[in-house]
Amino acid sequence: MKRVLMVANRPSPNTARLWDAAARGLKHPDLDGIDAICLDPLDAGPDALRNADAILIGTTENFGYISGLVKDFFERVYYACEGETEGLPFVYYVRAGRDGTGTVRAINGIAQGLGWRPVQAPVVLHGDWQDGFCEQVEELAMTLGAGVSAGLY
Ligand SMILES: Cc1cc2nc3c(=O)[nH]c(=O)nc-3n(C[C@H](O)[C@H](O)[C@H](O)COP(=O)(O)O)c2cc1C
Repeated sequence: MKRVLMVANRPSPNTARLWDAAARGLKHPDLDGIDAICLDPLDAGPDALRNADAILIGTTENFGYISGLVKDFFERVYYACEGETEGLPFVYYVRAGRDGTGTVRAINGIAQGLGWRPVQAPVVLHGDWQDGFCEQVEELAMTLGAGVSAGLY
């Protein structure tokens, strides 16, 4: 089994729907050989990351940056897993009220420092809430799971 780790915050009903959509995508019944571990940031740490074959990050944009909880996750794993996750396939989504660019810049920088490999463009969901956001996130997750399942990465 290949393990796909999802770490995402969900501070609001909308972002809880995004969290559920991502988990649904990773757990899609058509995906063979995938063990999806879907966690809130405080439940994720170095062990979960070391055991992952791919990772999906989900965060809100707060004060022009990644959410505090997702930042805390990165702070706890960054040096603890230094050199152990290079090349890890990764994707992410951002839910931002207005913008999202600061968060994209931040995640790209952190992921580059960790040596992670982006395998899809990020999904940035900004502006007023749209129900279609959930489909975008589910597809992002399912596509990651399909790639891992097919041994593409
Ligand atoms: C403390 C705080 C700071 C925020 N800062 C930003 C920001 O800098 N840029 C932005 O686009 N949205 C910002 N937002 C909006 C959140 O990104 C948005 O409310 C969150 O993603 C939840 O989305 P929802 O309203 O659809 O539930 C902020 C929200 C909070 C609570």
